[in-house]
Amino acid sequence: MTTPLISPSILSADFAALGEEVRAIDKAGADWIHVDVMDGHFVPNITIGPAVVKALRPHTDKPFDVHLMISPIDPYIDAFAEAGADFITVHPEAGPHIHRTLQAIRAAGARPGVVLNPGTPAKMLDYLIDEVDLVLVMSVNPGFGGQSFIHSQLKKVEAIRKMIDRTGRAIHLEVDGGVNAETARLCVDAGADVLVAGSATFKGGPDRYAANIAALKGQS
Ligand code: DX5
Ligand code: ZN
Repeated sequence: MTTPLISPSILSADFAALGEEVRAIDKAGADWIHVDVMDGHFVPNITIGPAVVKALRPHTDKPFDVHLMISPIDPYIDAFAEAGADFITVHPEAGPHIHRTLQAIRAAGARPGVVLNPGTPAKMLDYLIDEVDLVLVMSVNPGFGGQSFIHSQLKKVEAIRKMIDRTGRAIHLEVDGGVNAETARLCVDAGADVLVAGSATFKGGPDRYAANIAALKGQS
């Protein structure tokens, strides 16, 4: 299969040693670092904010893929961009003016992406795709790591791959939630080129990270 980029979600890392964890996954072959930002309002969990992103920035040169599960979004865009986010992805349901939000992310110097929840149709992208560098398909309902992959989302990945190819632009197509070595293959076959993996990266502790990432890339 085509080798996907792997973006480990640090939601499954040891929060008491985040800098060390980020260095470990960098060394183990992570391509991007996925940062799940949750506010206890848009999703039923609370994680981290821009201060933590900023603190982690010196620990790796890999792109930070910052997934905002917060509402409102706009007041926090500059803070995340200044903290060192490379990609900032947002849910259309989290703000009333998503098109403007995507433009604000680019204006802040980051690369904008849109995230589609399992219940959100691919059609949502019709008037947004020209604004984004990344489309993220959720294969679980957002809020928690360690959930099971929702297979119906593969059809959506296939549909979005066609939409992206029609634009002729290099837009990444990423899948997030329940990705393991087995579901990774299905995502890549459906057209994804970036895979988020929390539990599947961090399971077994630091000694396993390189093997876990290799398995997700289909290299073992
Ligand atoms: C869920 C998050 C995911 C999550 C993935 O809301 O967006 O990034 O951490 O975790 P796993 O890979 O364990 O499903
Ligand atoms: Zn995520």
